[in-house]
Amino acid sequence: MATVLTSSEHFFDHTAHTYMEAVSEDLGMRVYPGFSAEMEELYSPAGQHNLEAWARDFLRVVHQDAPLERRTVPVSWEPPHYAPQLGAPTAKTGTRTITVVTDLDEDDSNLAHMIEAFRHHAAHPVDVLNLREIGMKGSCLGCLRCIYDGTCVYKDGFAEAFDQRIQTADVLVFAGTLRHRYLGSVFKTYFDRNFRNGHRPILHGKPMGWLLSGPLRQLPNMRRILEAKNEVQRSPRLGIVTDEQRDEAAITAHIVELASAVDRWAEEPWIRPASFLGVGGRKIFRDLMYAMRGLVRADHLYYRREGLYDFPQQDHKRTLFNWAMAAMMSLPWTRRWLMEEMSKLKVMGLRKIVDQKGPAAGEPAS
Ligand SMILES: Cc1cc2nc3c(=O)[nH]c(=O)nc-3n(C[C@H](O)[C@H](O)[C@H](O)COP(=O)(O)O)c2cc1C
Repeated sequence: MATVLTSSEHFFDHTAHTYMEAVSEDLGMRVYPGFSAEMEELYSPAGQHNLEAWARDFLRVVHQDAPLERRTVPVSWEPPHYAPQLGAPTAKTGTRTITVVTDLDEDDSNLAHMIEAFRHHAAHPVDVLNLREIGMKGSCLGCLRCIYDGTCVYKDGFAEAFDQRIQTADVLVFAGTLRHRYLGSVFKTYFDRNFRNGHRPILHGKPMGWLLSGPLRQLPNMRRILEAKNEVQRSPRLGIVTDEQRDEAAITAHIVELASAVDRWAEEPWIRPASFLGVGGRKIFRDLMYAMRGLVRADHLYYRREGLYDFPQQDHKRTLFNWAMAAMMSLPWTRRWLMEEMSKLKVMGLRKIVDQKGPAAGEPAS
């Protein structure tokens, strides 16, 4: 029997719990739902009470051998063979720089061919950065020495690789083989070492794509993690390609599509609005940085400089709006008028914009 007890800032704690629960089930254990405490929660009597009650219930389930429903299905994966004939390469006439960040190992034949196909079809120069070759000496120690100015205690190849090949790239493509419901340990080490960058979205705006060998469709938690990485950075998402198609031509077609997405983005940059993942994640970081601003100096200076402290109480236009609304809501006849007109008022601004823009090209005027 397994369970998961963590403390955190609730920044993607649910994906960590889901992962731990899933691998515990893979290892043949039954899993009792975990307890994700906020960092300071256990100082409060309510937090302590909840923890003790949770632990008592966990022990009850263990002693009574109570039924626990399995939440995941085992991953079943036999990689297809992917080694396409590529033909003539696309001329590298583009001016954007693309860095492919990978943990490619000797046995990752499919991934090697996927990277090669991407490089082959890209119209821009492609730098392949193998994380195995940058000499990372270890994972993040959690020592927090970096919070002052972003300098890590490790003296190894991470900083140079990040500063000179990742941060300077116009476009990033991460390429890895999925192992045990996540990427391999080298990628894990790389992402952990990003803690040197604190909570600063310093890859902000850089388009990102993924080449993955492995059963992503069976790993919705993993997909969420990847999407979150994009959204928290506010980076355009170019696409995720896997070798799950089981058909060489189809995999290559998706890789070509990913390569050409770089061109389309270069021609017309745009970004999908962040969903809950990006919006929620950013708000957690914003509030945390502000609450810890005396300590996390590097983050605080960045948040101030980049205008990331976008608290609603500092939105003066909205404050005025709310004063006006509060006044109208306090009088019965203006309140009645507001309630009756609400639906119209909500779309009034958008309607004006649509009217100004007129019909789209080729569309009849209504
Ligand atoms: C290197 C490092 C990485 C962290 N990553 C996360 C994270 O991804 N999400 C989160 O909510 N909190 C994160 N935190 C905050 C810790 O989870 C939180 O401070 C926790 O309470 C620390 O518990 P501990 O002192 O027992 O290690 C991180 C802290 C450190 C030092």
